[in-house]
Amino acid sequence: MKKIQIKTVKGFNEILPPESFRWRVVEDKFRNLLEGYGFAELRLALLEPTELFARSIGGETDIVEKEMYTFLDRSDRSLTLRPEATASVVRAYNQYSLGKLSEINKLYYVGPMFRYERPQKGRYRQFHQLGAEVFGEGSFYQDAETLVMLAQFFHTLSIKGAALHLNSLGCEACRPAYRDHLKDYLYDRQESLCEDCRRRISENPLRALDCKNPQCREAVTDAPPISGALCDGCRQHFSGLCGLLDDTGLDYQVNPRLVRGLDYYTRTTFEFLAGDLGAQNAVAAGGRYDRLVEELGGKATPAFGFAIGFERLMMLIGSEVAPLSSPFAALVPIGEEALRYLFPIHVELNRKAQVTTLGFQQKSLKSQLKKADKDGVTYALIVGPDELNQGEALCRNMRTKEQTRIPLSRLGEALRELLP
Ligand code: HAM
Repeated sequence: MKKIQIKTVKGFNEILPPESFRWRVVEDKFRNLLEGYGFAELRLALLEPTELFARSIGGETDIVEKEMYTFLDRSDRSLTLRPEATASVVRAYNQYSLGKLSEINKLYYVGPMFRYERPQKGRYRQFHQLGAEVFGEGSFYQDAETLVMLAQFFHTLSIKGAALHLNSLGCEACRPAYRDHLKDYLYDRQESLCEDCRRRISENPLRALDCKNPQCREAVTDAPPISGALCDGCRQHFSGLCGLLDDTGLDYQVNPRLVRGLDYYTRTTFEFLAGDLGAQNAVAAGGRYDRLVEELGGKATPAFGFAIGFERLMMLIGSEVAPLSSPFAALVPIGEEALRYLFPIHVELNRKAQVTTLGFQQKSLKSQLKKADKDGVTYALIVGPDELNQGEALCRNMRTKEQTRIPLSRLGEALRELLP
């Protein structure tokens, strides 16, 4: 048979060691922080009925129009690999009646998402998110607490350059009038808009406000900002949030162009933008979606949430945040008999969490020490025929090159004493 090498699907990002180790450290920090704030984890299906995303994210969005991995299964049912998780969390909230169990539900998730976008730095077709959603709390205090928690997460990871951009998109009471106003504005300038924005004027005019196309940007420079059209409730919610952020000293910028690429938002929307990321500069994003639970068949429930792009987050984190851990000591056998002697000791030490390495291929002393150096171990314990005869191992400090002898009978104990 002809040999062929099979590779991943284009743009599907996989995490290999040692990067996977760093990911785990960061993921643990996320879980600890969120659980401290009362969140619990949801592990959800990756595949959903296509309709879920079409109804929640919106039929006239880039995600639903162009980016979903959608296919028919063997029963001709249209399924989609989740492009984001908020819709799935809401689906689960309704499906399992989580609202009946507790008035407020705080849920988080970690996992892969799939979008058929053009792959580039910081943008993949399989990427990963760390996200969270709060159900049942409509107060702007919730928005503020969640944003402060996110900023705290960035702070613990020593990320400094993530700037918070905030906007309010109004609600079903005030947004329709604003949309009509914006539609008129856009119709007057439709010649200057890109094809997508022109096509979406009637259904989704807000998208034009953050279209990346330079001509669209130019065309909307004088567009009326939504802030001028907010109803009293939305205005109070937004100013309440800004006031709390001021009180806690969290910097933010109000950005009237921030409309987001998903249609479910009401009131607060936000993004954390990091200049260091280049073109794909949003490291986290989210907002309030007070209508979605009801739109997907549940009881009217306010909700607020966010998702962090895991790949982009890792691009902002220095290696010091998640330094690689190394095994403590290398057991270095010279010859078959020494290998046989050291194997049970190696197993016993590792059982007691004193991590040692042991090579099984009987390489030369020099090459085993080179490997131990590469693994970053602190000590090498060398045992050859002479050491077996004398009942002592040679213990070499790999940093200082100092060598001492340790009786074989108390190898485990001696290693324990050497532990930092
Ligand atoms: P989103 O803005 O579509 O929002 O994605 C959130 C974050 O995921 C982005 O800020 C970015 O860091 C990362 N991201 C998105 N697409 C890609 C990609 N193709 N490659 C790499 N990273 C990417 C949501 O997904 C909403 N569900 C957020 C939310 C939660 N809103 C309320 N609750």
